[in-house]
Amino acid sequence: MTDSISVPILTTFINNFFTLTHQFYANYRTSLLIFTGTALSVWLYNRLWTNRSLCPSLALMTGKTVVITGGNSGIGYETAKELAIRGARVIIASRNVERGQIAVDTLREKTGSKQIEFMQCDLCSLDSVRKFCKTFNENESRLDCLINNADGYNSIIQANYLGHFLLTNLLLDKLKQCKPSRIVNVSSGLHYSVKHIDWNDIFSQFKDRSLFGPYSSSKAFQIMFTKKLKDDLGKAGVNSFATNPGWVWTSIQNPMREAIGLLGFLIFYPLLYAAKIFFAQNSKTGAQTTIYCAVASELINSNEVYFASRVKRKAKWNFKESKSAPNCSKPFQEVIKRIFPRQLYELDMGRLHSSIASQPTTSTPQPLSRNQSKMRTSSNLPTLQTSSQRRIQGQDRTSSSVKHPPASSNVDESSITVRRLSSNLKGRLPDDTVNILNDWFDSHVDHPYPTKDEKLELAEQCGVSLQKVSTWFNNRRTRTRNTRPKQIQDDLLRQIEHLKSVVVLQQQTPYSPLF
Ligand SMILES: NC(=O)c1ccc[n+]([C@@H]2O[C@H](COP(=O)([O-])OP(=O)(O)OC[C@H]3O[C@@H](n4cnc5c(N)ncnc54)[C@H](OP(=O)(O)O)[C@@H]3O)[C@@H](O)[C@H]2O)c1
Repeated sequence: MTDSISVPILTTFINNFFTLTHQFYANYRTSLLIFTGTALSVWLYNRLWTNRSLCPSLALMTGKTVVITGGNSGIGYETAKELAIRGARVIIASRNVERGQIAVDTLREKTGSKQIEFMQCDLCSLDSVRKFCKTFNENESRLDCLINNADGYNSIIQANYLGHFLLTNLLLDKLKQCKPSRIVNVSSGLHYSVKHIDWNDIFSQFKDRSLFGPYSSSKAFQIMFTKKLKDDLGKAGVNSFATNPGWVWTSIQNPMREAIGLLGFLIFYPLLYAAKIFFAQNSKTGAQTTIYCAVASELINSNEVYFASRVKRKAKWNFKESKSAPNCSKPFQEVIKRIFPRQLYELDMGRLHSSIASQPTTSTPQPLSRNQSKMRTSSNLPTLQTSSQRRIQGQDRTSSSVKHPPASSNVDESSITVRRLSSNLKGRLPDDTVNILNDWFDSHVDHPYPTKDEKLELAEQCGVSLQKVSTWFNNRRTRTRNTRPKQIQDDLLRQIEHLKSVVVLQQQTPYSPLF
């Protein structure tokens, strides 16, 4: 009975399906043909052209030693393979011993080269980088090409930039000894998306929660580093290049699931996979620009910094939007001083607090709230100024009001006298005394509570009573609490938030980027 009902339903469904398909085809035949033709052409172009474009240079690397980070998979693996085929001694520097050794064994088998080695180097651990460089410098006689290729997802800035920065610096002597030698930094076209870099708050890059935010910044840092290396070492025979491999389908795509969440992944991944069929390169093709920069003899003295698809391109390295972006002509120690996470040195909240509180608040005065301006006028003590500013102002006040009263001043002398008198009656202290007390206060801003002995000393120094000193400190503490500008509080909160994110980041990876 059920079967006799379901058969006609199925037949109707199939009939309807074919009718609708036929109708759709009849209505959109031309569009469908154009779409299919375009897709086929793009696919063929990708298969037959993009993924077959190889490095035009046939230069051999016999007798040369190459270090390649992250050479156990993806673009790095293919680069290592090609350089080994060209006769180089290849050292794969990667974090995982097992994966590294498997890659070395496979490469030896595929290339027939016995000159492929693995050495452990975890770019997220600066100790590991140091250990690697020490072993390398002690045991290897040459380094002709350093390829900074590895890419880390969880600690992007550290794996992509800081680790490579240290690695390069520690291997520089070997590179100089083997000149003409090269450094190739595998960067990315995404560096163009970086609008500015806040050099005073480098960890703001981490706060950028967008999918490619910190990644793009790390790649922008790499390009600036390349430019700096080129400027400083090009003449010494160590040339540097940054490369953009284009879009390559490798395990770099894997952390996407973690980055965009399950729902995003389920929607986005099929689209990405479809796009991959038409547009992505395979690892072998993706490695060609790096290989070109590592081997091409025409690039020995090249002034070009950035290559994509084996062709020179204009990179963005001068982030003009950021007022404090480093000038590329400064020595790179200067650059790293800025790039380094100043905040990490200040994890001690007390020190952070005092350093922020004692900062000259602003170069341009902030408008005060009504209460604040009232308080300033009444106390005659601009609590937000530094002592030196106050001193200068005190001098100015003295000089203008006492020594050189303006000739055209409309101020009534008697009213000044009355104000002075009332000020004395109210127990205000002379400017000199206030300056001394302010100096003490500013230098003890994290705990502005003088002991009795200190108060006595201050009282003696200022020629006022102990009671007056105590009262002044009570008032000043209240004023400071009440009038600390919102900006300072916001700064403090911002930096504390910031530090929290750094601490979280540090918890994700057990290593500190300080060295
Ligand atoms: N694929 C693309 O579309 C694309 C586009 C533009 C630029 N790039 C750049 O090309 C380079 C190579 O990328 P890929 O696609 O070949 O990536 P991949 O397949 O994910 O390879 C990354 C390599 O880096 C290693 N690595 C990760 N963290 C490390 C660490 N802390 N210390 C040492 N090694 C570490 C990985 O080792 P494990 O095997 O242990 O993870 C792996 O061998 C990267 O710099 C990437 O940013 C890629």
